[in-house]
Amino acid sequence: MESSKKTDPTIIIIFGAGGDLTWRKLLPAIYNLYLDGWLTENFVVLGLDIKPMSTPQFAKHIQEGIDKFSRRGKTKKKDWDGFVKHLMYNKADFNADNTYSSINKEIKKLEKSWKGSVNHIFYLAVAPSFIETIVTRLGSAGLADNKLMGRIVIEKPFGHDLESAKHLNQVICNIFSESQIYRIDHFLGKETVQNILAFRFANALFEPIWNRNYIDRVQITVAEQLGVENRGGYFDHAGALRDMIQNHLLQLLCLIAMEPPVSFEADEIRNRKVDVLHALKKIDQQDVHKYAIRGQYDKGWIEGKKVKAYREEPGVNKDSNTETFASLKLFVNNWRWQDVPFYVRSGKRMNETSSYITIQFKPVPHQSFPPETTGNWQSNILTMNIQPAMNILLRFQAKQPGLNMMLGPVNMSFDYNESYKSGTPEAYETLLLDVMQKDATLFMRADQVEAAWDVLMPIINSWQTDTPVNFPNYAAGMPGPEGSDIF
Ligand code: BG6
Repeated sequence: MESSKKTDPTIIIIFGAGGDLTWRKLLPAIYNLYLDGWLTENFVVLGLDIKPMSTPQFAKHIQEGIDKFSRRGKTKKKDWDGFVKHLMYNKADFNADNTYSSINKEIKKLEKSWKGSVNHIFYLAVAPSFIETIVTRLGSAGLADNKLMGRIVIEKPFGHDLESAKHLNQVICNIFSESQIYRIDHFLGKETVQNILAFRFANALFEPIWNRNYIDRVQITVAEQLGVENRGGYFDHAGALRDMIQNHLLQLLCLIAMEPPVSFEADEIRNRKVDVLHALKKIDQQDVHKYAIRGQYDKGWIEGKKVKAYREEPGVNKDSNTETFASLKLFVNNWRWQDVPFYVRSGKRMNETSSYITIQFKPVPHQSFPPETTGNWQSNILTMNIQPAMNILLRFQAKQPGLNMMLGPVNMSFDYNESYKSGTPEAYETLLLDVMQKDATLFMRADQVEAAWDVLMPIINSWQTDTPVNFPNYAAGMPGPEGSDIF
């Protein structure tokens, strides 16, 4: 996609530039924005990290990452030679004052040479323990003062529970104003996820039946074959509930359940989404077992390869009780959704890698066809495949060809790859461009993050106090613990 509107002069300062996120996601995304012509000539990426590296060494490392992870594959010499001029690296101690004074100097220098004000975006691609320090020091150095040009991007996890999220919000909001804060949930940048809004609100067809009168249940699944990879240390303190459900899956639920927005203003969309979180039924801690199931993977087989049990993964406690699978039954208590269950499920080392949402409709009120024609009768299902398949399928009954009347289910389908030939941007491309263009629609506001934690706290508390007796309870390569699809 070629751009029509270039960004204003910008410096992106990445804290944690030597880390995995920068290497795999952020710089490949910025490079693609550059290739697509979104970035002005006046842009700089300043990488900061404790690792000693020169700018050329940083650039080489970044190029390897782009070659490996960019949706466009390997860099071409001419493109890379143009891009690399925009990269800078400084070894930096995030606790040292001179880190922040040198950022200040760099911004001033650019303002002078570009003859005007410069957007400065602080991207915190760091472990959560650094966030408070960095934010506080940015504040003391006066780097949060320019409310129009200064912005901060915070990666998830945003807090560890409701209390810590509130504290973090307090710290950040004391220094930056809410309009400067971009809390990332990268799922919201995925094309297929953004399309949920288009599907629901740009078509007249679905909205009239999008309610408890026609919909029987909603299922939201994010299944991964991957284990915890090299993130065992982090994941063992998080678990599937915090890592996936508190953010990605609850956000998907909000997009499915929200009321039509009056406009596409960032706060209007975010208000409608937070309404859903507030409407979610509060589960009593003693009833958690009726609404939530957890699991942890044992050793097993994934695509013919033997894989370790979770407790054997590097960085994971040998007796860990952290869940790698979580499945919840939630209810949105409002006029539209009363009594419609929303099943929300996510797990690692599952039998497939697949994220999808299914909306199952109620059966027809009266079955006029004789039973022998409808042996294979199935209710209408709308499936939104988010990844890796990217499509929307509507299952309905059709007459099978033949002299007899026999019904069977078929799909109407829309497939991204068939309909659109241009490459699909990665979530981080969309989100980084949005930050540069000051569009917060796809980012989490303070109250959304807190409302999402609030919903999960009884489950978190219950799982913390009640030791699971049967962990590990599913073999890697299986679709979760036995019985986890039944409540
Ligand atoms: C991250 C989680 O937010 O999302 C990971 O921390 C998970 O555990 C990842 O694997 C999934 O994202 P994607 O875009 O790779 O499906």
